Amino acid sequence: MARGDLLKQLFESYQNRDDKRFRAAAEEIIEEERKKHHPVLSNELQRILANGSRAMAPVSGGEPVPMDRERSSPLLLTRFPDRYFADLVLTERTLETFQRILREIRGWEILEANGLRPSRRLLFCGPSGCGKTAAAEAISTELGLPLLYVRFDSVVSSLLGETAANLRKVFEYAKRGQWVIFFDEFDAIGRSRDDATEHGEIKRVVNSFLQLLDSFEGRSLLIAASNFEQVLDPAIWRRFDEVVRFDRPDQEGLSRLLRLRLRPFQAEEGALAFLVQQLEGATFAEAERACYDVRKRCVLEGRKGLAEEDLAQAVERFRYRRAILQKASDTEELPRIDR
Ligand SMILES: Nc1ncnc2c1ncn2[C@@H]1O[C@H](COP(=O)(O)OP(=O)(O)OP(=O)(O)O)[C@@H](O)[C@H]1O
Ligand SMILES: [Mg+2]
Repeated sequence: MARGDLLKQLFESYQNRDDKRFRAAAEEIIEEERKKHHPVLSNELQRILANGSRAMAPVSGGEPVPMDRERSSPLLLTRFPDRYFADLVLTERTLETFQRILREIRGWEILEANGLRPSRRLLFCGPSGCGKTAAAEAISTELGLPLLYVRFDSVVSSLLGETAANLRKVFEYAKRGQWVIFFDEFDAIGRSRDDATEHGEIKRVVNSFLQLLDSFEGRSLLIAASNFEQVLDPAIWRRFDEVVRFDRPDQEGLSRLLRLRLRPFQAEEGALAFLVQQLEGATFAEAERACYDVRKRCVLEGRKGLAEEDLAQAVERFRYRRAILQKASDTEELPRIDR
């Protein structure tokens, strides 16, 4: 088929949610690329198509997303992220852990047939901006499973008993599909049952979460993320197969991140070394922001290469934001930045 017709078929079938025609067109495009001796592109397309086979299917059989009764807001979001391990700076150990978990999840049936279970409950901890959410997204992409993002601001209700009911609704919904279920800001419900300052409601919430977790049989990978893991209940800790820590980058981590994010702009070694030195102590998110600051200046000024001034301004903005945050955390309006 001519390229134009193929593209038309691709778009039309997407519009009509016609999975069969969509795949036929996509496979023909892959075959064409292979014939044109573009093995990298054709393999990549093949891989995306294999992963994306679920993307056309309605999420959880088209079930409506559960809502919080009090506020009429959705308790969760479902997404197909577009992030890969290669986009992230991960320690060797973390990457190995993730690869092993992916292998286990893909081999779920064979493990089960042999009386074994994959590691399917992960706890991500560490300071803000160091990759907990980004890693959950990448795992979801690499597994080709949709991400079920549980919104804690919606789950935690001011109405007595409603939080536990919301959690039940989330698990009920999750049962009907295969997902990467991501509980963000997990400490909001995981706060220690022994904490005297906490209302009895929290204890009930933790207990019902543990019960729901224990009885959850879905073939999903569950990830919980927390910035304040030290306040998590020991009974919760026990339920996780793996705990993965995301820390601030050291010099090597910073350098890897800068190389990734400044790749299109031909940064010289000297410029990279300068930035690494100036961004010492930054989180990945802060370093990434500095890179985007640099890139935006270049793009808006129509330049392909970096200028010293771009770097200096990005560093200045980083310092300024830092100072503001430090002031706010000193007056305890925000969590301390070193957490
Ligand atoms: N290890 C990393 N490698 C590459 N980029 C990263 C890494 N960690 C964070 N980033 C970038 O920083 C941004 C924020 O990261 P992320 O949302 O994952 O942080 P977080 O740990 O979930 O923070 P929070 O606790 O505030 O939710 C992301 O856009 C991501 O691209
Ligand atoms: Mg996060």
